[in-house]
Amino acid sequence: MDVDKFDIPLMRPRLPNAEAVVPYLSEIDINQWYSNYGPLEQRLRSRFANMFSVGPENVVLTANGTLGLTMALREAAKGLRGLCVMPSFTFAASAHAAVAAGLTPHFVDVDPVSWGLDPDNVRQYLAGLGENVRAVLPVSPFGAPLNVAAWDKIELETGVPVIIDAAAGIDTITPGRCPTIVSLHATKPLGIGEGGLIICEDVDRARELFFHTNFGFRGRRSAESMGFNGKLSEYSAAVGHAALDQWERTRRQNIDCSVLYAEALQELDGIVFAPGSDATFAKSTFNILLPEGNLDDAITFMNAQGIEVRQWWSKGCHREPAFENCSSGELPVTEKLGRRVLGLPFFSGLTAQEIGRVRSSLESFI
Ligand SMILES: Cc1ncc(COP(=O)(O)O)c(C=O)c1O
Repeated sequence: MDVDKFDIPLMRPRLPNAEAVVPYLSEIDINQWYSNYGPLEQRLRSRFANMFSVGPENVVLTANGTLGLTMALREAAKGLRGLCVMPSFTFAASAHAAVAAGLTPHFVDVDPVSWGLDPDNVRQYLAGLGENVRAVLPVSPFGAPLNVAAWDKIELETGVPVIIDAAAGIDTITPGRCPTIVSLHATKPLGIGEGGLIICEDVDRARELFFHTNFGFRGRRSAESMGFNGKLSEYSAAVGHAALDQWERTRRQNIDCSVLYAEALQELDGIVFAPGSDATFAKSTFNILLPEGNLDDAITFMNAQGIEVRQWWSKGCHREPAFENCSSGELPVTEKLGRRVLGLPFFSGLTAQEIGRVRSSLESFI
């Protein structure tokens, strides 16, 4: 992101400043405990547990969201090769995680209203694809809420593990038996730099994931099951505490920005908001669906006016070179979203005046 090139950049992440983090860093100095589930990491887990009304044993912290996804998919696949049924309309990290877990993505189209996988559609798919499917990976589109109960049910009915990628969903997730992974990347609503959060109501499953973050060690230094180094360091946990201290304010400012956008754009003909964009949850991007066939022109036009915009999630993972050999169903909705979804500048502190400029630019373009 070239911040200087645009008057209104796409993002301006703001993490806790040094002053807010220093008390926690001082704790690290006193503890002389730097990683491996130190006191700050343990306390951060408890704070997230309280936030989602689960026990600390239902929470696993990871070095980043992609690692969290990878580990959860590895646990699901149990070392076997096979397919991971997932949307193509997602960030490349979801598909990379499937590949890193030894699986091959099988891309399924998303629902035209929710922009996410439809549980009933996936149920039918699973029946058609047979035993080779090792996991299903629904993705929350830009943090929008998912029907976790429906996914839990699919897992129970079909026996195929479901892992939920809710990278931007810190403000919308609902704990369920399927592990849900949230990214704590700097660009996400609750950013700590790099980090990931897994919430899983099934304590046994959460415990397996916890061991997975530590080389498969289970209390003694012997690799007894699959593992990685997926741990969150004490330094990242320090930023995490400072970020949680400020969360209510960060969240409110984030939502205020969505409200301003919703008001400014509601009467623009031909514009459709991404699912949940006009609602009341904190998000990391603000996406709209443009009228047919003019995305690249819109980007060029708005960039020339000093407004940075981006096509989020590209044209779908199935069009990314790394995944072009993966199988898929028909993907008409994904193709449409790939041609028309535009991410607008979105960050706390974006002013009504700046949003007015974005609106005018969009209006002149359309
Ligand atoms: C849908 C989705 N999944 C996974 C990730 C990966 O998260 P992280 O950057 O924490 O590895 C992202 C990151 O933006 C994402 O958007």
